[in-house]
Amino acid sequence: MKSPWSLLFLGLLLPMSLVQGVSQPNFVLMMVDDLGIGDLGCYGNTTLKTPHIDTLAQDGVKLTQHLAASPLCTPSRAAFLTGRYPIRSGMAAHRRVGVYIISAASGGLPQEELTFARILKEQGYRTALIGKWHLGLNCEHSSDHCHHPITHGFDHFYGITMTNLRDCQPGHGSVLYNTHAHIPYGALTAALVTLLFLHVAGILTVSRRLALGLVVLLIVAVALFGIFVLIFPHFNCFLMRGTEVVEQPFVSENLTQRMTDEAVEFLERNSDRPFLLFFSFLQVHTALFAAPRFRGKSRHGLYGDAVMEVDWSVGRVMETLTRLQLKEKTLVYLTSDQGAHLEEISIHGEVHRGYNGIYKAGKSTNWEGGIRVPGILHWTGHLSAGKVIDEPTSNMDIFPSVVNLAGASVPNDRQIDGQDLMPLLQGLVERSEHVFLFHYCNAYLNAVRWHPANSTSVWKAFFFTPDFYPKNGTACFHTHACFCTEAYVTYHDPPLLYDLSRDPSESMPLTPLTEPNFSSIVEVMVEAARVHGQGVKPTEDQLSVSHMLWKPWLQPCCSSITQLCRCERDHRKGSQETQVKASRD
Ligand SMILES: *[C@@H]1O[C@H](CO)[C@@H](O)[C@H](O)[C@H]1NC(C)=O
Ligand SMILES: *[C@@H]1O[C@H](CO)[C@@H](O)[C@H](O)[C@H]1NC(C)=O
Repeated sequence: MKSPWSLLFLGLLLPMSLVQGVSQPNFVLMMVDDLGIGDLGCYGNTTLKTPHIDTLAQDGVKLTQHLAASPLCTPSRAAFLTGRYPIRSGMAAHRRVGVYIISAASGGLPQEELTFARILKEQGYRTALIGKWHLGLNCEHSSDHCHHPITHGFDHFYGITMTNLRDCQPGHGSVLYNTHAHIPYGALTAALVTLLFLHVAGILTVSRRLALGLVVLLIVAVALFGIFVLIFPHFNCFLMRGTEVVEQPFVSENLTQRMTDEAVEFLERNSDRPFLLFFSFLQVHTALFAAPRFRGKSRHGLYGDAVMEVDWSVGRVMETLTRLQLKEKTLVYLTSDQGAHLEEISIHGEVHRGYNGIYKAGKSTNWEGGIRVPGILHWTGHLSAGKVIDEPTSNMDIFPSVVNLAGASVPNDRQIDGQDLMPLLQGLVERSEHVFLFHYCNAYLNAVRWHPANSTSVWKAFFFTPDFYPKNGTACFHTHACFCTEAYVTYHDPPLLYDLSRDPSESMPLTPLTEPNFSSIVEVMVEAARVHGQGVKPTEDQLSVSHMLWKPWLQPCCSSITQLCRCERDHRKGSQETQVKASRD
């Protein structure tokens, strides 16, 4: 490369690469948990202060019809990382529960799935996941890490493999107890009543010994369940650095602070080479927490405080990019994994849920409130500031966008459902490439969205809708989340049809009387659903009963079982740095 010819050659190439943009830009992808689109100032909230996220939107592009591929954490995150509907990877449940609630279960994102992190790592990127994973951990023993972020292309991991749960913070109650306590108590009561009835009716003369034995057995079963609930946090609320458990159970109060420090350090360490940072906030999922200096600062209780702390954290990330002069080289994205979880009321009756603005219902449903999420993209010098895009886009679109920008090609051995966002973001095209989008409730096709190429309408047809409890509400308080299975939904034939461009709140379904083209519109959508369904190949269900159950041999344990796995080895916990920084800002 020393000849004058090669210098000339380089001279010709240089301006070309400048025109095409930065080669191998960096990526900072931020996902907040359960954040509602109505919680942010830039999406219309006037009472909750989110100045840093608002600035991000002002200086970047704001998407107003950005859609999570699923209204639940595990499937939504699987789709985000792979660019594919979760049904394709087996990350969509056929039963009621659609997310992992036990860390020592064998299900998870299969290794055959390709995440954008894995592709970027092969392109020479340094990749990190800081925060929540929720896509499985082990398959066969407690440290095979077959589903761990490291296996899926992240060089660095600091966070939790599960989700943050009420159980993870003392005094916040228990998801497990709320949703499953009826099983042992119900079984005990039913068994005793049956026994008594049979005995009194003279059908079964139960020997006293047998009766006593049965009672003891049932009491033991209930006691075991009680113990399981008590030690549940020890087994499921642990913090990992790489593949090592460093804090079990984790202390949540300053976790957002610790993760922010970790993110800032990652950026500093990698400022001279391409990197991908996926910053996946544990908040604002319950159990809510906020560092002391954010507590009581918002007008919306602990929930608002937690949102403010996330906003502060976004500010620190952006400030770091500015300081390192990386803003022209870094594409920043911020979103939520689904809409706000409306059923979240604390055990003391405090409102612990977010706000979905004008959109109907919330997390666990495919009404717009469950899937329409914030979508902000920021890239100084490459995306025009203040642009607002109303076209339908999906969190699956990040996959092809990131892969293409990194100079890799989108895999062609599998169906990728996301579309490259860059032409739309840069104004090279006006229309989103998503003509149809399919909204799944776990493994069940719930609704179809159609944005015909020649019209402004956005049609949405529901094949079923969740049954709310109470009936006239827009949430499922009775079960803490809405379910997708037969007993919990109402089917619609013909489907319930809305035009979101005229009725974004989904307040009045259209009829052949109010929409003259009702039948032909529905026909097109039903046909699209049929064709889509045919293209989905059957695959192993990663959320089957056997993949969701607690398998003791998969249980990560930081110390020993006699110490209830307890340990505190995270150097960031109470580190000087965290405290100094916390008091300084
Ligand atoms: C702002 O967000 C809070 C917290 O979710 C919510 O309670 C409130 O209604 C929202 N306010 C406005 C004006 O949108
Ligand atoms: C728009 O396209 C659809 C099919 O894609 C067609 O049925 C319809 O007639 C078109 N409408 C107009 C106004 O061109």
